[in-house]
Amino acid sequence: MSSNPNIQTICCIGAGYVGGPTMAVIADRCPDIQVTVVDINQARIDAWNDSDLSKLPVYEPGLDVVVGRARGRNLHFSTGVDEAIANADMVFISVNTPTKTKGLGAGQASDLRWVEACARQVAKSAKGHTIVVEKSTLPVRTAEAVKAILASVDQPSEPRSFEVLSNPEFLAEGTAIRDLDNPDRVLIGGEDPAAINELADIYGRWVDQEKILRTNLWSSELSKLTANAFLAQRLSSINSVAALCEATGADVREVSRAIGTDSRIGPKFLQAGPGFGGSCFQKDILNLVYLCRHFGLPDVADYWESVVLLNTWQQHRIARLVVQKLFGTVTGKRLAILGFAFKADTNDTREAPAIRICQDLLEEGAQLAIHDPRVDPVQISRDLKLTASHAPEADAGPTRGSLSGEATWWPSPDVASAINGSDAVLILTEWQQYKQLDWRSLAPLMRKPAWVFDARGVAEPKDVVSAGLKFWRVGEGDG
Ligand code: NAD
Ligand code: UGA
Repeated sequence: MSSNPNIQTICCIGAGYVGGPTMAVIADRCPDIQVTVVDINQARIDAWNDSDLSKLPVYEPGLDVVVGRARGRNLHFSTGVDEAIANADMVFISVNTPTKTKGLGAGQASDLRWVEACARQVAKSAKGHTIVVEKSTLPVRTAEAVKAILASVDQPSEPRSFEVLSNPEFLAEGTAIRDLDNPDRVLIGGEDPAAINELADIYGRWVDQEKILRTNLWSSELSKLTANAFLAQRLSSINSVAALCEATGADVREVSRAIGTDSRIGPKFLQAGPGFGGSCFQKDILNLVYLCRHFGLPDVADYWESVVLLNTWQQHRIARLVVQKLFGTVTGKRLAILGFAFKADTNDTREAPAIRICQDLLEEGAQLAIHDPRVDPVQISRDLKLTASHAPEADAGPTRGSLSGEATWWPSPDVASAINGSDAVLILTEWQQYKQLDWRSLAPLMRKPAWVFDARGVAEPKDVVSAGLKFWRVGEGDG
């Protein structure tokens, strides 16, 4: 363990899914460093400061414990951005970098307006020597722009200097604390060995030195995009094979096991599903696609773009398949959606496969009872661009007067009420509680013939079938 006398105060701009947990772990591991996480979103900062730790704005197993230990001691959440920057020896930029929705590169390039705003704010408010760390995922060569902005301040009243480092984050949601506590690697890109050492010393408090990789700035920025592209590529590969399994009688779980035991391939990220979601895989690959086209590599761009296209296809495919199995129409039918988050153990719904699948079913006139143990119904309304309606009377049973085709959805407080009166259940997130459902007691609540569509492969097939339900699961079909 090395100590780090030079860095005494850290400011992190962006109190989101990365900034919050990452800084909580740094503060927890480095009690002598004052860490302030700032954000322009007052509600988010208020939630980080809520005395009730179950109300933190990010749900992550173990996060409440870490925040509970460090908050108020050396971990602070604030909207005082300028002040925190002025006091900091090191500033992390951990703001959102979504795909641009309009203008040049719309639909592919990253929208860097928030990163640029941060760089300008650091340029305005920093004092003395400041190490600026890119924590956000950024297009390769963004550090050039950050450096140019930092260098362009008019006549500061006192001498200042900056170093820019790239330190992309590899945590996955749902396992953020575990990933931060025990990362496969920490990547630091930069030009100034002293600045790199300052940051390496912080991580060195709990991460083995050989896991701290030092590269140049551009390799670091590009490695983050490449890591996500490779992970997502595996998912599109296995999801494509799942479709072939369904057509041929093979079982994708058996194929995953068979190929995953090859040590060159490995077992992780071979779980077929409803397509990948999350805020990053799609946006980072599209960013890579944009960069490839920009640098005159259209064939490379097409190669990576196909990973995203296959993912979108998988989501539409599942919705289409549900309609086909339900006699070609879901108009006026009640469907129970189990799981809306993009994966288990998070309340995040960004790019969740459930969004596209539900939208397709709503387009067909379905009535969706949606259950998720962590997602706020307000967020579901936003994602579906449709206000929630009231749940039909529980005793209305499976008969419905309305076949008008008016699509509706409502939040269900528990699995049984979601399933009550439904023609089909779709499992779209692999929450632990969906693995242990008692299908014998749930089956009588459904209108027959009733289906279970298991897009996550979590239900026990024989339990579902012996309860008298028809069963489809990804990568196997209804054989
Ligand atoms: P997020 O949207 O949850 O959080 C970003 C926060 O930054 C928001 O609260 C926003 O209000 C704040 N913000 C934006 N501009 C600001 C400004 N000028 N001043 C102060 N605050 C500002 O995003 P996130 O999921 O934490 O992702 C942040 C970055 O990390 C992205 O580049 C993302 O690609 C990357 N990343 C995310 C994950 C993940 O699991 N979510 C993992 C690795 C990397
Ligand atoms: C992913 C990466 O795993 C992180 O390393 C990275 O830091 C992060 O993106 C990021 O840059 O944002 P995350 O999106 O949080 O993390 O979650 P993952 O566990 O990667 O899952 C992504 C999607 O793939 C989820 O929808 C998940 O259900 C799906 N998935 C994952 C599968 O369908 N099958 C699998 O075998 C694994």
